[in-house]
Amino acid sequence: MSIEDKIKDLQERTSALRLGGGEKRIEAQHEKGKLTARERIDMLLDAGSFQEIGLFRKHRVTDFGMEKLDVPADGVITGYGTIDGKLVYVYAQDFTVMGGSLGEVHANKISRLLDMAGRMGAPVIGLNDSGGARIQEGVDSLKGYGDIFFRNTLYSGVVPQITAILGPCAGGAVYSPSIGDFIVMVKDISFMFITGPEVVKEVLSEDVSFEELGGAVVHSKRSGMAHFVCDDEEECFATIRDLVSYLPSNNLEEPPMVDTGDDPLRTEPKLNDIIPVDPQKPYDIKKVIEEVADNGEFLEVHPSYAMNIVVGFARMNGRTVGIVANQPKVLAGCLDIDSSDKAAGFIRFCDAFNIPLVTFVDVPGYLPGTVQEHGGVIRHGAKLLYAYSEATVPKITIFVRKAYGGAYIGMCSKHLGADIVYALPTTEIAVMGPEGAANIIHRRELMEGGVEYLSEEYLARRKAKGEEYRSKFATPYVAAQRGYVDEVIAASDLRPKIVAALESLVTKREARPAKKHGNIPL
Ligand code: HXC
Repeated sequence: MSIEDKIKDLQERTSALRLGGGEKRIEAQHEKGKLTARERIDMLLDAGSFQEIGLFRKHRVTDFGMEKLDVPADGVITGYGTIDGKLVYVYAQDFTVMGGSLGEVHANKISRLLDMAGRMGAPVIGLNDSGGARIQEGVDSLKGYGDIFFRNTLYSGVVPQITAILGPCAGGAVYSPSIGDFIVMVKDISFMFITGPEVVKEVLSEDVSFEELGGAVVHSKRSGMAHFVCDDEEECFATIRDLVSYLPSNNLEEPPMVDTGDDPLRTEPKLNDIIPVDPQKPYDIKKVIEEVADNGEFLEVHPSYAMNIVVGFARMNGRTVGIVANQPKVLAGCLDIDSSDKAAGFIRFCDAFNIPLVTFVDVPGYLPGTVQEHGGVIRHGAKLLYAYSEATVPKITIFVRKAYGGAYIGMCSKHLGADIVYALPTTEIAVMGPEGAANIIHRRELMEGGVEYLSEEYLARRKAKGEEYRSKFATPYVAAQRGYVDEVIAASDLRPKIVAALESLVTKREARPAKKHGNIPL
């Protein structure tokens, strides 16, 4: 064979393998409104940057007629490329090849990719579209999943792990994404469940559609599994690229600096009007974040889940920050099970990847009731306390308005290690809201003369006592006298103040007692 023939042979082999499951299955994939694995990689990465690893790999299974089956690339494309010039490792399951199911070789390709990403210190992005464990390969498929979960855990907190769910993801296929850091789903084509609708029907006689059981909307609003939901695949890849732009490649790097062109000394007088003085009046905390962040840009994580707390990435003077903020517009911004989980997970991600935390506090307390108590709000609320206390990245806290009771402590108060704490003049820090406090300490006086509890007369008296309590204790000044608040500032000065604090904390180092790992309440 001449060299020309050998090259031709190579080209023929390569193009046959690159066709995956063939034209018919590619057509079927397109008909479902889905892109192919290769089209996805091309859309995600910088043009022409993808370098494939393991195209020629092949299974050695002889059961169930597998020896006669062509399984190009064993149903998963693996390799590396760049996003805005930054190295990333990528795998994309090919649904046109045995439904993207995961056999021994398929799993081994992903495991090796994770090892490479871990060694090189680069983010890993999975594009999942899979029927789960390849049934014909039995326990070898299960072993393959185990190997991947082990590595997801090994490299957790070492490199960012992002997964897009771009088709059905059943059984084992859902656990790797959930051990990772971020999940992106696409409306109408993404599904995640441990057991599909058929099993649900068989075991529970319950009729449920794919969408209702594990669609993008359910996972973004109810389970909180999906961090981002997109209308189509194009938006999904743009979201991943945007997310990657905020993150360092690994835990030993600082987050990237970007020249945003926004003046760090910019003051914003309209902030004084956005935050109402009346503590009962709702407003949108995202308006505050947008006024403060560079160019108003804020990549919100989990925007539709536990909306009483807002988390996401922004830049301040070009530096990435993780923002956590109570949302007075939803449930008055109180803390509950889901918001505690949401914030704790985000805080731990930021801490693992050297991203400073900026916390905006306007919180009336914890949501009361049996649903919360029986659901374990104590344990879940404890996660937030733990995550903030554990974080050693720069922590800046701004008390915006209400900060009552345990929620005051929990929202990164000085006592949980905040480095710089600001309060606005609208701040009320107290053990509880003024009316609640009056109920307890003035109960006898309020009911004097046979006045009934919570009657009109009672409420009028309570209002007066509440005002007395508010003017005495519910201000930022007692906390400032104690040194729990470093400075009371006008809302208009928030941006330059936060930028100054962040710049001063760039060199922060904090040593903690050596231990294997802590035991976060789970
Ligand atoms: C082998 C599979 C497969 C699998 C799909 N295929 N899933 N092959 N193992 N797990 C094959 C099909 O035989 C078919 O091959 C092709 O992929 C496309 O599948 P269709 O069923 O035609 O596609 P669609 O109608 O879109 O349905 C997709 C699907 C369905 C919902 C994913 O295929 C399905 O329910 N698959 C099984 C899901 C499942 O139960 N997986 C095991 C989970 S248990 P042809 O040749 O006809 O094109 C698990 C254990 C791990 O994962 C636990 C670890 C913790």
